[in-house]
Amino acid sequence: MKLFDVYPINDITITRAKGSHVWDDKGQQYLDMYGGHAVISIGHTHPNYVDRLTEQLNQVGFYSNSVRIPQQEHLAELLGKITNKPDFQLFLCNSGAEANENALKLASFHTGRKQVVAFRKAFHGRTSLAVAATDNPSLVAPINQTDVITFLPFNDEQALEEHFTAHGEEIAAVIIEGIQGVGGIHIASENFLRKIRSLCDRFGSIYIADSIQCGYGRSGKFFSHDFAGVDADIYSMAKGMGNGFPVAGIMISPKIKPKHAMLGTTFGGNHLACAAAIAVLEVIESEDLINNAAAMGSLLMKEIGEMPHLTAVRGRGLMIGFDVPDTMKDLRKNLLWKRRIFTGEAKPNVIRLLPSLALMKHDAQNFLDALKEEIQLLEQHRNTVN
Ligand SMILES: Cc1ncc(COP(=O)(O)O)c(C=O)c1O
Repeated sequence: MKLFDVYPINDITITRAKGSHVWDDKGQQYLDMYGGHAVISIGHTHPNYVDRLTEQLNQVGFYSNSVRIPQQEHLAELLGKITNKPDFQLFLCNSGAEANENALKLASFHTGRKQVVAFRKAFHGRTSLAVAATDNPSLVAPINQTDVITFLPFNDEQALEEHFTAHGEEIAAVIIEGIQGVGGIHIASENFLRKIRSLCDRFGSIYIADSIQCGYGRSGKFFSHDFAGVDADIYSMAKGMGNGFPVAGIMISPKIKPKHAMLGTTFGGNHLACAAAIAVLEVIESEDLINNAAAMGSLLMKEIGEMPHLTAVRGRGLMIGFDVPDTMKDLRKNLLWKRRIFTGEAKPNVIRLLPSLALMKHDAQNFLDALKEEIQLLEQHRNTVN
């Protein structure tokens, strides 16, 4: 049987990984400034993570949500502490899209309404409502098309206010990434997030903070939405939560009350997934990784901001984007194939950096040196051709 060919892949086979590095089957080392798409939070194969998972696997790997799973309660307690939202409630699932599906469903149950506000360039996942709330028609199959989602311009307070004034009583939820990832690294302004909070309060709608890519410490705060100083009603989380183990969840405001069978999943919150998520939070705390993300992010953004040709350097913590001109369009490819450095991209011309929050200064410096040299080489090449 062949694999269903939906991913444009690089012909690289990774066989080993440690910290911010991976090795291929030929023994070649790569610097991972992409974090496997913002997933590697504490670094590859962190010893505490490997120990926790191994220990749990030797005890019990899985049992369903029909029994008590104390690891879920432990995880909820740790999350309550690190986010400073101990009165929120935790529902666990398996992926980012599923977290957003559950968030939207819960908002609809709670409000009894159907309409959702999302924003231009948003990405919320590839299933059902999550993909309907994603502003990329090429991802939306005919069966996902719905008239319950309205896309408004990002960071436009006036457009939001006008929409609420006209339709506020029908709006179940506003869903927004604190920093748009797939859309190209765009920060939701603090005033815009506060506006969402106040309009949701006024009209009884639910504010959903999609923190799947920008959450879990990546921005230099636990949730990038925290920069606005207001609470959302639901935070969706995935990616960095399990450092590669598929675990996701939503944190739910105490004002939303649970009812049996309202939400559910077979695999969500299983013993192994909780072990991974607990290990991640322990390491984030013990190694002070949120502050490290903030410090490494500032260093990278400052240095990249001073490089020629690269423009619009933006982001927070270790969620960084910059624009690459057409004349340098081979830059990302050269970083991978000549320098063995993984980076991310956003179409058409953005390089995205999403490394582990444990990125070390010398690795950040190696990346900056390689970036600078590759820019110079492309520049020289351009001058000899012209
Ligand atoms: C902001 C955001 N929301 C949701 C998702 C979907 O997550 P998953 O691929 O785990 O379903 C992603 C994935 O890139 C994302 O970046």
